[in-house]
Amino acid sequence: MTAAVRLRSRHLLGISDLDPSEIELILDTAVAMKEIGTRTIKKVPALRGRTVVNLFFEASTRTRLSFELAEKRLSADTMGITAAASSVIKGETLADTVRTLEAMSPDIIVLRHPSSGAPHLLSTFCHSGIVNAGDGMHEHPTQALLDALTIRERKGRLAGLKVAIVGDLMHSRVLRSNVLLLTKMGVEVRVCGPRTLMPLGLSALGVHVTYSLDEAVKDADVVMMLRLQHERMNGMFLPSLREYFTLFGLTRERLKHAAPDVIVMHPGPMNRGVEIDSVVADGPRSVILDQVANGVAVRMAVLYLLAGEDVTP
Ligand code: CP
Repeated sequence: MTAAVRLRSRHLLGISDLDPSEIELILDTAVAMKEIGTRTIKKVPALRGRTVVNLFFEASTRTRLSFELAEKRLSADTMGITAAASSVIKGETLADTVRTLEAMSPDIIVLRHPSSGAPHLLSTFCHSGIVNAGDGMHEHPTQALLDALTIRERKGRLAGLKVAIVGDLMHSRVLRSNVLLLTKMGVEVRVCGPRTLMPLGLSALGVHVTYSLDEAVKDADVVMMLRLQHERMNGMFLPSLREYFTLFGLTRERLKHAAPDVIVMHPGPMNRGVEIDSVVADGPRSVILDQVANGVAVRMAVLYLLAGEDVTP
């Protein structure tokens, strides 16, 4: 693999567009960015004079705040708007909203949107670089990158690891981005969830599909739990949350079948007692807050690689 020195695209729309060397480049850059967060003055001038717009049309705590912090640590000028506080509620379209923002000459637009493909649509006419901060049920590339950084930090590598991803797979953009990234990097991925929440065609992506949590967790180096995405469900997918926890909830007992040094991950927000027991979420194998910390470093890396001073236009 030839080492990438820059990203080929001026957008980050999905993991599907990145090759393994670009993924390594982002992770290595994130390691350097993480060091900045340990300094007394947590700020560098890498994006001085650049303007970043955060456009969040869906609720977010981790992604939105970590993008904002990443931008501040890189000295970018930032603006942010949510759907509820914008003229979207007066009927303005996404395209018109973005054309309006582009008239103010931003360099990067970070977009979270409930429609799959919204960032791709913007990339067809925007002059700014577009960063996908989660689009519908499609992709959440910076989440997968921060997950990969967390795994690499803890395990020293990605290739050859066994990663189990468990939960509501049908509605999860985190699943999709993680499967794409981890399989590109040589990870053995098992996915597990109820049949009613299992999307078609997952096996074609090179993952092992199982409906048994014990099978998914057996000897796993990493167990990644995903939330039930009630906001994307139309109708009944499960008999009850109690039955879901019994069959698919991660407890200390079930985690005993994993590798002894297993790490437990969750992108958040968590539903304690639904997909994960609090004893596990807050336990010694959990790296959930490391994921949050690494979110800032990864987003600094992405913004720097897309809009940093030494990037050739
Ligand atoms: N993991 C994640 O995307 O969390 P938020 O919805 O809080 O941003």
